[in-house]
Amino acid sequence: MISREKPDVPGHGQDANRTLPAGRRKGEAVVPVITVDGPSGSGKGTVSRCLADKLGWHFLDSGALYRLLACAALRERITLDDEAGLAALAGRIQGAFLQSSSGQERVLLDGEEVTLTLRTEACGNRASKLAALPRVRDALLDWQRRYRKPPGLIADGRDMGTVVFPDAVLKIFLTADPEERAQRRYNQLKSLGKNVNLGDILEEVKQRDRRDRMRVIAPLAPAEDAVIIDNSDLDIDGTLRVVLDRARRIV
Ligand code: DC
Repeated sequence: MISREKPDVPGHGQDANRTLPAGRRKGEAVVPVITVDGPSGSGKGTVSRCLADKLGWHFLDSGALYRLLACAALRERITLDDEAGLAALAGRIQGAFLQSSSGQERVLLDGEEVTLTLRTEACGNRASKLAALPRVRDALLDWQRRYRKPPGLIADGRDMGTVVFPDAVLKIFLTADPEERAQRRYNQLKSLGKNVNLGDILEEVKQRDRRDRMRVIAPLAPAEDAVIIDNSDLDIDGTLRVVLDRARRIV
């Protein structure tokens, strides 16, 4: 069971339970979370989705929330130097993650189709820039934690194990060499008929890594108790086998 719906509570930027770990409300049973963090191109999105399907758990693509916000900011012409404006925007946008009849994911932003825009490099880069702003990260916290529902959640991102769900039952950190990740992205774009240059993509991958790792708040980093998996020499099936093996030991 993959949860595609956006939690429907307006003002999701406010977290009334900040004193409780990872969004738990008093008296609620602990819903298990497995976090999958790592840089772009590490395959964490595909692996997390498959893991959620195999376990029958919900799925959170936290990067998509940052991308949605980047899209909305562009639409409303809110610039990166307006941190308060961006944080307020995060509290009022409505995203919907839908599954089409052919199994393809569709994403709507306030009812408008943004599926393709969301996956562009431009949107990813913009998301990476606004993700460095503390008030923006704070405004997205509660929205992310609302995905934690029985029987469990697979949370994919950069700071899932360190900040958003520090009490996760299993924390995976997936990584691979930048060259390998750039090659994967290149192959993916080529297969879509795009005219791309491997050198440019490698430079973008490195730049985004630098920005995500160096930011002061919630930088991309493995949690102390994370299992680090370098999949430079593994394909997606191989990576999924390793991750599933870890997950099966605890659930
Ligand atoms: O996973 P992605 O490429 O869709 O994420 C886009 C950007 O959003 C990424 O470069 C950094 C930011 N992000 C983040 O800072 N924290 C997360 N948990 C997820 C994404």
